[in-house]
Amino acid sequence: MAKTPFYITTPIYYPSAKLHIGHAYCTTLADTIARFKRLAGYDVFFLTGSDEHGQKIQQKAEEAGVTPQAYVDKIVAGFQELWRRLGISNDDFIRTTEERHQKVVQEIFRRIYAKGDIYKGEYKGQYCTPCESYWTEHQLDENGCCPDCHRPVQEVSEQAYFFKMSNYADRILAYIEETPDFIQPESRRNEMINFIKQGLEDLCISRTSFTWGVPVPMPPDEDGRQHVIYVWFDALTNYLTPIGFLDNQEMFNKYWPADLHLVGKEIVRFHTIIWPCILMALDLPLPKKVYGHGWLIVDGDKMSKSKGNVVDPLLLIDEFGADAIRYFLLREINLGQDGNFSRDALIERINSDLANDLGNLLHRTLSMAKKFQEGILAAPQGESEIDRSLKSDAAETVKFYRENMERMELSPSLKKVWAFVSRANKYIDETAPWALAKDDSRKQELANVLYNLAESLRQIAVLISPYMPDTGRKIWAQLALEEVKPFAEVQLTDIESWGGIPAGHKAGEAQQLFPRIEAEDDAAAAKKAAKEQAAANKAAKKAKREAQRKLNEKKQ
Ligand code: MSP
Repeated sequence: MAKTPFYITTPIYYPSAKLHIGHAYCTTLADTIARFKRLAGYDVFFLTGSDEHGQKIQQKAEEAGVTPQAYVDKIVAGFQELWRRLGISNDDFIRTTEERHQKVVQEIFRRIYAKGDIYKGEYKGQYCTPCESYWTEHQLDENGCCPDCHRPVQEVSEQAYFFKMSNYADRILAYIEETPDFIQPESRRNEMINFIKQGLEDLCISRTSFTWGVPVPMPPDEDGRQHVIYVWFDALTNYLTPIGFLDNQEMFNKYWPADLHLVGKEIVRFHTIIWPCILMALDLPLPKKVYGHGWLIVDGDKMSKSKGNVVDPLLLIDEFGADAIRYFLLREINLGQDGNFSRDALIERINSDLANDLGNLLHRTLSMAKKFQEGILAAPQGESEIDRSLKSDAAETVKFYRENMERMELSPSLKKVWAFVSRANKYIDETAPWALAKDDSRKQELANVLYNLAESLRQIAVLISPYMPDTGRKIWAQLALEEVKPFAEVQLTDIESWGGIPAGHKAGEAQQLFPRIEAEDDAAAAKKAAKEQAAANKAAKKAKREAQRKLNEKKQ
């Protein structure tokens, strides 16, 4: 039977600076959903990428004294390195500077122009360069600044191409109202409904005041000015490029419309108003769901370069490993709400949940199997009340997990898995295998207990794999299950019945999954990490000052 397709995307990130832990959070969420869907038998296409055009990037490159292309190439290589180290399983990586994408943007422009929904006019308005957003006078905040980031805007007046969003206002409003699942969570949906009800103006989609963008596929103005396409019009269409919009109809029909655009809460507006209007103008179906997740703050504060509290995910991965970071982000933050990152809370979770609960369960199980049965997991026979309750908890956990993961309840599902980890640890205490081992007449009971523990761990390895792919694989390897079934081929159905470990299977040796972080070591490590983070922030500031100085010299 053909698998059901599932197309999931992250936003494409601006390569104006290195990515921080907040960006890593967004991509980790998407990765976990993509991995779960693969496990549940879907044919997944998972896309991420970089949004490389626009005035801000051009300015940054000028400050750095390099071409925009050289500037973005270097930063985007850093994105790709981060995703590799974080274990991100994207199927493609789209860069908006790639030819395959520029072709798509220009073709979309041509089609909508030919239809009459793009026209040329005079643009007068306010532009926020950091947000790459146009605003009308009445949308500005009380200080006349950008309503999103509250920084000063620039007045611009120029000939420009406009997209007739006003043509689609009624249709998009009706769609949002009739399709409760389209925008989630509910609070974002209400915001968007209110926004549209205030009236949709036509959108200015070209600029002539800078050159770093996809050229408008039209002759230049009479005065010779060439237009480039507005960066959001360019960026949003990235979602069509890698799935064969122009070159692979079969693939396109399979994956479009997207099942899920996962985005941060502040860019829901672009994805649920501008993007659907573009798609309607192209007569394409709309994405099934846009989910606006919350923001990650650090020690209760918004991250910013000026505060010097920007957390570099690569430094954290060096220190604690990718899976510990992934676990923390996915467990601590409820999707849709803002969440807090703190080093202390991270260490607390590593020690209690990973080193203690999970690490001990694995270690105790494998060392007892080795000590009492030379690692051999003999066929269980008969079952006690306690065995029955463990098995029924396992079945209940897998069921809860499948249903809740399908609803993107990532944190509750992970908590449920950990409740089962604790349950299995308690099972060790209840059955006391060391006591059974002393009594020859209870050999079968002992075999049953060790089998049940190993089987619980087999199920746990699979359940945690979307969250902590490397740890799932390590547990599988320590149980020596690779020869039974390669971990890469495991499906959720493999743990929907009890007893996947063949009778007589020999488990492997116990190895530590997560070392405990001792307070003393951490005090020294925290100092070192803070120093490294401060040095990195300071170096970035210094480079910026230096670049600004060079630029000023050049201008004089
Ligand atoms: N380039 C646009 C997106 C275009 S998608 C067609 C953009 N880029 S961004 O780099 O500024 O942000 C990318 C994503 O990172 C956004 O979804 C944003 O919400 C997310 N985050 C940025 N800081 C964040 C946190 N502190 N916490 C969580 N997510 C955050 O917008």
